[in-house]
Amino acid sequence: MCGIVGYIGTKQAYPILIKGLRRLEYRGYDSAGVAMIGQSGSLNVYKTKGKVDNLTDYCTDKDISGCIGIAHTRWATHGEPSARNAHPHYSQSHNLAIIHNGIIENYADIKSRLQEKGVTFASDTDTEVLVQLVEYIMSSKNLTLLEAVQTALYQVIGAYAIAILDKRDPHQIIAARKQSPLVVGIGEGEFFLGSDASPIIEYTDKVVYLEDGNIAVIRLGEELKVMSIHGEEQALQVKKVDIDLGQIEKGGYPHFMLKEIFEQPECLTNCMRGRINVEGNQVTLSAMIDHHQKLLKAKRIVIVACGTSWHAGLIGKQLIESLCRIPCEVEYASEFRYRNPVVTKDDVVIAISQSGETADTLAAIQLAKERGAFIYGICNAIGSSIPRATDTGTYIHVGPEIGVASTKAFTGQVTVLSMLALCLADKLGTITKEEYQLMVSELTRIPKKMERALQANEQIKHLAMIFTYAKNCLYLGRGYNYPVALEGALKLKEISYIHAEGYPAAEMKHGPIALIDSEMPVFVIATRDRLYEKVISNIQEVRARGGRVTALVTAGDELISQYADHVIELPDTLECFQPLIASIPLQLLAYHIAVCKGKDVDRPRNLAKSVTVE
Ligand code: M6R
Repeated sequence: MCGIVGYIGTKQAYPILIKGLRRLEYRGYDSAGVAMIGQSGSLNVYKTKGKVDNLTDYCTDKDISGCIGIAHTRWATHGEPSARNAHPHYSQSHNLAIIHNGIIENYADIKSRLQEKGVTFASDTDTEVLVQLVEYIMSSKNLTLLEAVQTALYQVIGAYAIAILDKRDPHQIIAARKQSPLVVGIGEGEFFLGSDASPIIEYTDKVVYLEDGNIAVIRLGEELKVMSIHGEEQALQVKKVDIDLGQIEKGGYPHFMLKEIFEQPECLTNCMRGRINVEGNQVTLSAMIDHHQKLLKAKRIVIVACGTSWHAGLIGKQLIESLCRIPCEVEYASEFRYRNPVVTKDDVVIAISQSGETADTLAAIQLAKERGAFIYGICNAIGSSIPRATDTGTYIHVGPEIGVASTKAFTGQVTVLSMLALCLADKLGTITKEEYQLMVSELTRIPKKMERALQANEQIKHLAMIFTYAKNCLYLGRGYNYPVALEGALKLKEISYIHAEGYPAAEMKHGPIALIDSEMPVFVIATRDRLYEKVISNIQEVRARGGRVTALVTAGDELISQYADHVIELPDTLECFQPLIASIPLQLLAYHIAVCKGKDVDRPRNLAKSVTVE
């Protein structure tokens, strides 16, 4: 949720911290702050409401010296977005400063205990409670910072990734994690800290992903030390990060979201590389080789995910049921985890997550694991928490997704689900060899077809102007295109703040049709497939009530233009792969409408890219 950066070395920390915050701003951006131990030995904390630019403006006349510092960009949970509640937080004596990502659930209890002992608080946050607790333990028990952090974390219930500075020891950062990601970068005589690797990769490709319950002691001139909360030293697992800088920059596009929409053909090619053979007639997933017994014996598959990943799951369900004939359910992870669901050792649970850090999805995995299910992850962020918590899985390999509105991750997830369903169906014999080969080879043609779908960009840009002032929009689709309608509506809501709903086209007559009038734009996915005629009837129902229809049609369709106000043509493909193509114009439409409305497309209000709180 929030972004964490840290630096200790021989360079000036401030420029590194600010650059890191800009890379992490997608995680949260309602306030930002920085703490550095300056040349004079003072611990300077500067923080402002709003984005990182506000912080840098504020710092122009401040002492920003120092080779050690921590910085934070926030997505508020406890306490309104304000400079007062922004991180870092000082302890009462101003000797310590902390940054935190996560939630301290028992903060109210700890706070009142500390207040009884005379500790005064300067903010409404749960985070400040932690630094005050650490300081109280240090002084009352005469412990070192490390010992006090260990003791304090025993008392804390909740999730955290933290970093703490002590001005009396200007060569050390203490960091710790539980259920919130934290990465330490190892450079030449310097260390970096990040809530993901993006602020680090510019300086080093050697990283250590902290595990839950780990505390890192990062000292200048010494080796990195990682220990458990009980003080047992942990073996260092140094990994190499394989992200190049270009992947996390805009590359000439005005927004990350537009760049990521246009990258999709290349992303899908990368996603299939090494998994579909050059002849384009065979899919091999390493997870299937290693764990085929478990997967082929599944009595049921349960997909857990949130948001866009949940929409991809709905498409996965249709693929798995129709190709593999295995019953498949799709659950919101946040509901599943608290529902006491029936899960057994005969089930395979597929967890889908772009970030690999979504707290609800992680908790759903935990629950399914406890009940003996086999867990398969479909994630994008390499080395994130979900792939580490699963039994096996497949990365979507679409590269870092920075825009808060997910685009390329969605099509990457659907591609992996397609490959998985094809592998299973082939092994189970639930489709014929001819069907299998036809589908595999069509999947390899999707990137080229996406390129053709992207050519509608200019047309969609013009259309977007017409819809800029809409108050509500309806998205309709059937079968494989129903989740596309949901996803199209979510994209519009997220970045343009226009209310939008996705509906199965035939359900409309059971209620939502009452909303339709000439003020209501209706976007219908009406590609040529089994349900084509049915969808035409649904379009007519909308037209009869004065609704304004924009239809996504298969290239060459001349019939629908008689009923629709606008048509957007899509290259033809197999019905089950239509979502990979049809989602593109809807992503572009949401993007251009939001731009016309002057919205901050990459950092929409109230949202964060990675939802690491429940
Ligand atoms: O990282 P995840 O895929 O687990 O994230 C799940 C949702 O938070 C995410 O898809 C969210 O709905 C996006 N902002 C959608 O664009």
